[in-house]
Amino acid sequence: MNYRHAFHAGNFADVFKHAILLALLDALTVKDKPLCCFDTHAGRGRYALDEVEAGKIGEWRGGIGRLFDDPEAPPLLRYLDAIRACNPDGTLRTYPGSPLLAAQTLRANDRLVLCETQDDEAAALRALFREDPRVHVHQRDGYAALRALLPPPERRGLVLIDPPFEAQEGEFTAIEAALAQGHARWPSGVYAVWYPIKSHRAIAPFHRHLAAGPFEKVLVAELLVQPDDSPLRLNGCGMLIANPPWKIDATLASMLPALRSRLAQSPAASHRLRWLRGE
Ligand SMILES: C[S@@+](CC[C@H](N)C(=O)[O-])C[C@H]1O[C@@H](n2cnc3c(N)ncnc32)[C@H](O)[C@@H]1O
Repeated sequence: MNYRHAFHAGNFADVFKHAILLALLDALTVKDKPLCCFDTHAGRGRYALDEVEAGKIGEWRGGIGRLFDDPEAPPLLRYLDAIRACNPDGTLRTYPGSPLLAAQTLRANDRLVLCETQDDEAAALRALFREDPRVHVHQRDGYAALRALLPPPERRGLVLIDPPFEAQEGEFTAIEAALAQGHARWPSGVYAVWYPIKSHRAIAPFHRHLAAGPFEKVLVAELLVQPDDSPLRLNGCGMLIANPPWKIDATLASMLPALRSRLAQSPAASHRLRWLRGE
């Protein structure tokens, strides 16, 4: 299967993921020391919302489309500013992927490592960052790249794991293995894993696994835009954060209600933030 993120770019799950990604990067760039950010499943880095793929389903209308033009929209820290900066004429046409948002946040002496397996997505990434020496594009399996590249020489930084979940629940097995290896090679790295929620029952084994270690602190943020009573649709999504930066829980606690109120697709929409381990 060839997952195309363009169909989903800017949807509620992207808004949730990217708002949290920027909060994490902001927390990590408070200190001057250089850091390295890995995006194991990078996508193409930037999406045109008026192109066929994004336009056909129009998922972005239920995501960034609900926030972009709204003067009353909660600021969600820097997230909305970052999206507006990609659309300087004030019309929403472009949605940045995680690589572009990270590149715009990182400093001159930080590095960004991007992994992507699909030919055209990797080519688009190379073109986008051709003139940015901080950014390294690897056309290879993101999990294998982590095994080869951790720990980075900077010893500080973030790994974003955002797979397409084509293997459905089987993807969690690969993520658990990657986190175990990540902990063995780079125990102080911050690891952020995005996951879809169709039903909470399907997520529970993954949570139980991480609650048992090896990371001492594991925080989970979740947003359900619908109740999780239908296993056939994407009801919500979550971000599991191992080694969360200091006070990120307070930041997320103020962001999640704002995300829920703007992105809800049902009166039963909900959010939750909880420590799986630590605190
Ligand atoms: C959910 S999208 C990534 C979106 C991106 N992180 C963002 O937020 O803008 C997942 C991407 O992973 C790519 N992919 C699939 N399997 C992969 C693998 N084993 N290693 C690296 N990339 C992979 C897909 O081609 C797809 O572009």
